[in-house]
Amino acid sequence: MLHRLLSITVVLLAATTAARADDAAIAAGKAAFGACKVCHSAEKGKAGIGPSLYGVVGRKAGSLPGFSYSKAMAGSGITWDAASLDAYIAAPQTKVPGNRMPYGGLKDAAKRQVIIDYLKTLHD
Ligand code: HEC
Repeated sequence: MLHRLLSITVVLLAATTAARADDAAIAAGKAAFGACKVCHSAEKGKAGIGPSLYGVVGRKAGSLPGFSYSKAMAGSGITWDAASLDAYIAAPQTKVPGNRMPYGGLKDAAKRQVIIDYLKTLHD
């Protein structure tokens, strides 16, 4: 019985630690998103120099109504997921040649990862 209780406690502790790790990653992502924030809002419908990134995961590239995208972005045929976002953030001009995002790319893979984890939280 004691053993059973102990293993339940271990499972619960592991779950709590995992949740904390996720929260920490999202907080790190929010901080790293500072590099994007000059141009991108995380709020729904609020465009800046770049389109709002609220709901970007699962969205067709260049499809947000009211934002004037480049032809390269609108015609890229991408639907944003973790892999395409990672490639685009790493090297915007390689992933979508001719797009108009004035950003050289983020070389730090860990930072890209936490930004993407944060972007995943921005949805209805
Ligand atoms: C100096 C301004 C600027 C910065 C900094 C910037 N972006 Fe952009 N971003 C843009 C513009 C402008 C576009 C639209 C490009 C086009 O239409 O060709 C864009 C487009 C995008 C898109 C496509 C969105 C869609 O609706 O299809 C994603 C995703 C994106 N940016 C992510 C990021 C991330 C993540 C960062 C930070 C690591 C970042 N951007 C930094 C200006 C910027």
